[in-house]
Amino acid sequence: MSDNIVAIDGPSGSGKSSVSKLLATKLGFKYLDTGAMYRAITFYIIRESIDINDIPSLEKLLQSIKISFDTSFNVYLNNENIAKEIRSMPVVERVSEIASIKIVRENMVDLQRRIALSGKYVLDGRDIGSVVFPNAKHKFYLEATIEERAKRRHKEEVEKGSSISFDEVKESIAKRDEFDKNRLESPLIIPKDAILIDTTNLGIEDVINTMVSYIGEIVD
Ligand code: DC
Repeated sequence: MSDNIVAIDGPSGSGKSSVSKLLATKLGFKYLDTGAMYRAITFYIIRESIDINDIPSLEKLLQSIKISFDTSFNVYLNNENIAKEIRSMPVVERVSEIASIKIVRENMVDLQRRIALSGKYVLDGRDIGSVVFPNAKHKFYLEATIEERAKRRHKEEVEKGSSISFDEVKESIAKRDEFDKNRLESPLIIPKDAILIDTTNLGIEDVINTMVSYIGEIVD
């Protein structure tokens, strides 16, 4: 069982990334945003107009690109900071499809394991407790109603200056949920032994305190 890994899964807008960053700071762990890795690949595929059905080209691409992070959670693709680009609408619209491709997942999971095994990590994603680190000692699954998740994402979009409507955000989240939960490769599931937290009516601090109390209890 891996004591140095905290696995956090859940759908878009469930609060995973804000919670994971804060929890990592509280525990003195590092944070790995695995969704950002799938977004980085998606950004590259779009920019280079790569045909995702051309598996040999995809394989070559996966072997040649380098994805890395800095301590401010910026994401780099071959040393280019693409933190802003990976949150853009074209990437959002295609990331679930690209994240469902077997060789993309194999490659990313391998990289995630290599990064996380080099230290103590909080990882968030869709398959962390089920596939990437099924032996993690601490596993959480965050969820919230679709209304609440869309409200959170819409607020973020408005703050970025976007004019996207609440209904468009909600529809985009629902589409991604559907795709992520029903894909063949590592679908989004509640991992075995994961602690389920409904964040709909909870603030970040409440969620963190709940998690810390579980981690504390398990450690004691
Ligand atoms: O967490 P996020 O919204 O940044 O994730 C973007 C997409 O990447 C999401 O639609 C599903 C995919 N993803 C995945 O398949 N597996 C992960 N471990 C993380 C994200």
